[in-house]
Amino acid sequence: MVVIAAMGLATFYTLRDLPFERPAHAADPTVVQVEARQFGFVLSRNEFRVGEPIAFQVTSVDVNHGVGIYDENMELLAQTQAMPKYTNTMYYTFEKPGTYQVLCLEYCGIGHHVMTATITVVPSQEGEGK
Ligand code: CUA
Repeated sequence: MVVIAAMGLATFYTLRDLPFERPAHAADPTVVQVEARQFGFVLSRNEFRVGEPIAFQVTSVDVNHGVGIYDENMELLAQTQAMPKYTNTMYYTFEKPGTYQVLCLEYCGIGHHVMTATITVVPSQEGEGK
């Protein structure tokens, strides 16, 4: 009985903090339209602030593309598919100011490798250059 009680307590304390009831993203993100096409991306906005939650709404006007956001070290931070007649929402919040690259992640034709865009992230407050 002691063991069962201990297991019950352990289960309760380890499971109660699971985030299933909470939204996985901010309630009021900045919504950005991302349109992929052969061979480029059109973003409705490409300058953001550090800590600003963003919901990228990604679609394609022609074939399947991929969307990957890379930092200055070419580390992949977020990705999703860009599909015709479908919108994928990719949530991301930038943690550092800088210049980020958007690259296509799926072979989409002769210009696949030149299919890029740039995102600029500025400090969240004036003078806060973390
Ligand atoms: Cu678009 Cu590869």
